[in-house]
Amino acid sequence: MPASNPPPRDTLLARARSAFANRYGGVPSTVSWAPGRVELLGNHTDYNGGLVMAAAIDRGTVVAGRRREGSTASILAANYDETDRFSIDAIDWPEAGTWARYTRGVCWAVSGWAGALRSGFEAVVLGDVPLGAGLSSSASLQASFAWFLIAMGTVPGQSPGDFSGEGGDARLMELAQTLRRSENEFVGVGSGLLDQFSSLFGRSDHALFLDCSTLAHERLPLGNPAPAIVVCDSKTSRRLADGMYDRRRAECERIVSAYRDRIPVEGELLLSMVPLDWLEAEWDGLDRVGRRRARHVLTENDRVRRGIESLKSGDIGAFGRLMSASHASSRDDFENSSEALNRLIEAAESAPGFVGGKLSGAGWAGCTVNLVQADRTDEFVEAVRARYARETGITAEIHVCRAEASASGWAAME
Ligand code: GLA
Repeated sequence: MPASNPPPRDTLLARARSAFANRYGGVPSTVSWAPGRVELLGNHTDYNGGLVMAAAIDRGTVVAGRRREGSTASILAANYDETDRFSIDAIDWPEAGTWARYTRGVCWAVSGWAGALRSGFEAVVLGDVPLGAGLSSSASLQASFAWFLIAMGTVPGQSPGDFSGEGGDARLMELAQTLRRSENEFVGVGSGLLDQFSSLFGRSDHALFLDCSTLAHERLPLGNPAPAIVVCDSKTSRRLADGMYDRRRAECERIVSAYRDRIPVEGELLLSMVPLDWLEAEWDGLDRVGRRRARHVLTENDRVRRGIESLKSGDIGAFGRLMSASHASSRDDFENSSEALNRLIEAAESAPGFVGGKLSGAGWAGCTVNLVQADRTDEFVEAVRARYARETGITAEIHVCRAEASASGWAAME
């Protein structure tokens, strides 16, 4: 069975247009697209004020729609065949855990940032980012939806052109933070900035570096030819691990609490801001769990620093080894891997063309992300699928992706 290749975006768009015609009649005036992401290095570092390295991928979410008179918003999620209607003047909270929390949350956060939306609208959203797999279908939905609102001219003082050219990145960062606020405060998920940043800053065949404390960032070439980004979905569900993300966050906060009085910072003190030698000096005072969690976050930051150097010197092999070391650290110290994810990584390590691989995103289930020599992708996919099936009885779903540019050229397409 060949690896599943992404349907071209124009297929996604055509499906969205046809769903729009069926549901609302006529044609949309505005369409947008934004990608999902893989995390390449820097696992659970973002909410610790640390360093991350990610890539936007060629799977994403399309929004197609148009303005309508009055203040009613109507959104059809074509993946679920569900419609959400609400008033943009009084946005209330839909049920937790639903896609509508994300779309309403974007309207809520964007209005808080730029001012009340200028009109109601009707829209279709449709995505091809595998759901619940650690590829941030949610940030892709958020970013695409924000582009849609901006491109349609409903967000006061914002137009798509402001987000490119000089000063463009600063505006993109403001938007990323706005979308994070939406996820934290409206959706109720305490995630860091990684996902929204990655969905907005993507560049073709580039990795994306972000320092979550200073917001310094850089796009770094993955090489020429760039390796394929092969995402292997373990087909194990994250629901089993519900609550673990918050628990890890709390464990990291607990380590920091001992330093709060000693390190004056404006705002919140985060683990990555505690000097390494301070932690080392008091290492024995940390409990076993605290030591492991701290070691993971701090060594991840270091791996991101070294990853930047590897990419700058064109050494993709060294970058791959850092990814594999990152997985080992997640598995042993942060303890957010799983039997299935470890099996998938072991299968990848022994497959042809493997450059490096690790779990992607929160962990405990979902996907691994692997860099693979582009000309050996088919052999790699076959080998991983066969070994994983043999060892676990589960057929992995494998997606061959590439690092993709974010919305440019898509937002505002009429
Ligand atoms: C999830 C969160 C991100 C990040 C990763 C782990 O994907 O949404 O903010 O914390 O987990 O690195």
